[in-house]
Amino acid sequence: MKQIIADIVIGLSYGDEGKGKVTHHLLKSGDYTHCLRFNGGCNAGHTIYHNGEKFVTHHIPAGVFFGVKSIIGSGCVVNLDQFYDEIAMLENAGITTDGLVYIANNAHIITDAHLEEDSKDTVIGTTKRGNGPAYRDKYNRQGIRASEEPRLIESSYLIDLYRELYEKDITPVILCEGAQGFGLDVDWGDYPYVTSSHCTTAGALLNGIPPQAVRKVYGVAKAYDTYVGSKDFHGKGRAFDLIQQLGNEFGSTTGRPRQCNWLNLKDLSRAIKVNGVTDVIINKVDILRAADKWNLRSYKNDSIFIQLGSEVGWKKYLTNYISENTEINIIFSDSPERI
Ligand code: IMP
Ligand code: MG
Repeated sequence: MKQIIADIVIGLSYGDEGKGKVTHHLLKSGDYTHCLRFNGGCNAGHTIYHNGEKFVTHHIPAGVFFGVKSIIGSGCVVNLDQFYDEIAMLENAGITTDGLVYIANNAHIITDAHLEEDSKDTVIGTTKRGNGPAYRDKYNRQGIRASEEPRLIESSYLIDLYRELYEKDITPVILCEGAQGFGLDVDWGDYPYVTSSHCTTAGALLNGIPPQAVRKVYGVAKAYDTYVGSKDFHGKGRAFDLIQQLGNEFGSTTGRPRQCNWLNLKDLSRAIKVNGVTDVIINKVDILRAADKWNLRSYKNDSIFIQLGSEVGWKKYLTNYISENTEINIIFSDSPERI
């Protein structure tokens, strides 16, 4: 069998955990031949600091910043206007996209009708980017695949994932970049307050990656939980407003304020197990430090939380909780640009 190696970056919470930063960091190794976005559409907003400049991408994987072949995979839905805007944005910033950016021919297209329908959502609090309707049509066998879209047929952007991964004379080393997170996964999240795609490790495999290929699974969380959408999530008390301000917790796609709460240990633990995470990255520890609040939640009920009182105590408690009975590498990050 052809050898393929895959590392997977996934969100352990509700998106906005800082996956973009982790992917960007991993790509610096120069180890990867491909970077693959494996789920979602332009509901995602990946914030990346590259050579000191801030970029927000919605579709195009971070590999493009390093000259690595960057593929929007079969698990994705694509808004072509957004895609071409992003190509232009990158080119204007001096980032070469030519011969590097591809869309899997079996990815699906987000149409104007999908956008129109999603714009009327009042129940879930979607990003109104047409995701739900696009995935519904895909599974209802009424969708439009990238290979059928006239604007793409005439372009050099289409790619056959099978041919690329299995029929070329190289060993693909793929960095799989997830969008959203476990709490928004269509199967494992808080249904119906979820997105319409698979945000898990399994979701990466759906893009033509065999299970044996998986080397590392990087699970990304934040030092506190945030969520954007219709359900009531924001904790009670001024600390959460403070964290929202200090952490600049406003959506990178829609600008909506993200509701904040303490990091939920049970949910985090579920996400780590179901995704087979090998390395956990906890981002934005600097924000808790600025707020000087070192709390965690252990139940869904807001009122039950654990006050640790200090950064050292908080890290120790969290580390013990996560690594109980398992060998998981835990990394705490306190900088937007570095891990
Ligand atoms: P949709 O993905 O636009 O259908 O939205 C479904 C739910 O997922 C809503 O609560 C959105 O706010 C949330 N969501 C979708 N994408 C992201 C993301 O990239 N970050 C955070 N929340 C997201
Ligand atoms: Mg985001």
